[in-house]
Amino acid sequence: MPTTTTSATTLTLDTDRCLSTAVHDHGLDPDVLAPSGPAAAAAVVLTQRLEKTRGTGWERWRLLAEGAMREDHVKAVKAIAEKYAGQLDNVVVLGIGGSALGNIALQSALNPLTHNLMRDRNHPRLFVLDNADPIPFHQTLGFITSEDPRFDRTLFVVISKSGETAETAAQFLIVRDMLQKARGDSHADRLIAVTDPEKGTMRRLCDAAGYETLPVPEGVGGRFSALSPVGLISCALCGIDIDTLLDGAAAMEQACRSEDLHANPAAMLATVLVELGQRQGKTVHVMMPYANQLYLMADWWRQLWAESLGKIVKGVQGVTYAGFTPVKALGATDQHSQVQLYREGPNDKAIIFLEVETFATDVAIPTGLGEDALAYLEGSSLATLLSAEKRATEFALTESRRPNLTIKFPEVTPHTVGQFMMLWQVATAYAGLMLGVDAYDQPAVELGKKATFALMGKPGFEVLRGRLES
Ligand code: PA5
Repeated sequence: MPTTTTSATTLTLDTDRCLSTAVHDHGLDPDVLAPSGPAAAAAVVLTQRLEKTRGTGWERWRLLAEGAMREDHVKAVKAIAEKYAGQLDNVVVLGIGGSALGNIALQSALNPLTHNLMRDRNHPRLFVLDNADPIPFHQTLGFITSEDPRFDRTLFVVISKSGETAETAAQFLIVRDMLQKARGDSHADRLIAVTDPEKGTMRRLCDAAGYETLPVPEGVGGRFSALSPVGLISCALCGIDIDTLLDGAAAMEQACRSEDLHANPAAMLATVLVELGQRQGKTVHVMMPYANQLYLMADWWRQLWAESLGKIVKGVQGVTYAGFTPVKALGATDQHSQVQLYREGPNDKAIIFLEVETFATDVAIPTGLGEDALAYLEGSSLATLLSAEKRATEFALTESRRPNLTIKFPEVTPHTVGQFMMLWQVATAYAGLMLGVDAYDQPAVELGKKATFALMGKPGFEVLRGRLES
C-alpha cells in the first residue's frame, strides 16, 4: 500500500484515499504507484538527478540542516540571541514573502498562541510586519513606542536578500529614521539585517551603518530559506529550539534521498499530487490542518508550492501552464464554510489533511449537564472531538470521490515541524522536475515589481511609467 512511513522520520504520509480503490474514477490506478510500476521507476531517475544537483546552485538549501553550513548559521544566530538575552521585550521582523512567511509559520507552530500576551514570557514578543499597509505598521510601532519610546528593549530584524524589495525597503527607511531620532548614533545596536553576505543594496547599507548581519546564503532563494538564518533568527530570539528544528529537517532530508518511492515521502507526495493533477485534473490543492498551530504553515506552503511550480512551459506542442492552486483551510472551522464546496463543487481538488496525533494539551469536556442531545460530548475531550471531525470529513470527502491524503504529526514539536518544512521543500524539487519547470525562479513576479518602481518614480523606469499612465 502506498503509505509511506520511514524509520528515519516520524511524520507519516497516508495516500490511500488518492487511489481509485477509494475514490473510484477520480483516483490513481494503484498500479501506477506499485513498487514495480512507472512512478517507482521515475522516482529512481528523479532521485538520481536530484542527487547530482543536491547542495549545488539553487539547491544549496538541501544542506541547510547539516554540516558546515548548519554549524556556521547556528553559531551566528545563537551569538546574537545570547547577546540580546534578557534585554528585549519586542522583536520586530521587517520582510515579505520568503523573508517573512517562515518566521510567521514557525512562531505560530511552536510558540503559544498567546506568546505576545503572556506576562511571564521568558522571551520577547514577535511582530512580523510583512506588508506596506500603514495600519498594522502604525499600530505595531505605536504600541511599542508607548511602552518603549527609545527602543531600549526592542530589536528590529530586517530580512531582505536583495535589499531592494519595495515593501521591506520602505519599512526599513521608516524604522531607521525612528531609531536614529530616538537613539542617535547608538541606533545601530537595535537593528540587525539578514541579507546577502556579499552583494546587494542592503549589504551596502549595513556595511556603511555598521549594522550586525546574518547571511541569506548563496543558492538559497526566499521561499527555501526558512531553515536558514532568515527563519532561525526569530526562533532563537523568541525561545524556539533551533537545534531540534534542524535535526528534524536533516532526518527528513536524508529520508528523501531514497530511490525507493515507498521509502521517500517527498517523492511520494510529489508523485501523488502531480499525477492527480495531470491525470485527474485535480489542480487545486487544499491544505487543511486540523490544528490551529499549523494553519499559518499552510501560508508558508502556499508560497512554496505556488511560486515554485506555477510556470509557463514551452514545449514542442506549444505553451502549457504548469502548477497547482494552493488553498488553505482550517479543520474543523472550515467544515462550516468550505466543505460543502469540497464535496459537491467542482471535483478539481486534492485535499491535504494535516493531523496531530497527540496535542501538547487536551481539554476535558465535563459531565453532568444532563441534556440528552449533548450527552455524547460529556466526558470526552476537545482533541478527541477534533480527531473525530477529521476522520469524519475524510470519510465524507472519500464518499464523494474526492481524493485526499493525510500528513500526520505524532506531536507538533520543533523536530516534526523541521521535518514538515524539509518534506515540502524536497517535494517541490521533485514536482518541479516532474512538471518540467524551474522551481527556483519567479519571472512572472518581476513585471509587477517593475511597474511599482515605475509608479513610485524610480529612475530607469520612465518608459514603463508612460505605458502604465497611458
Ligand atoms: O521567494 C522569494 O524569492 C520571494 O518571496 C522573496 O523572498 C521576496 O520577494 C523578498 O525578497 P527579498 O528577500 O530580496 O526582499
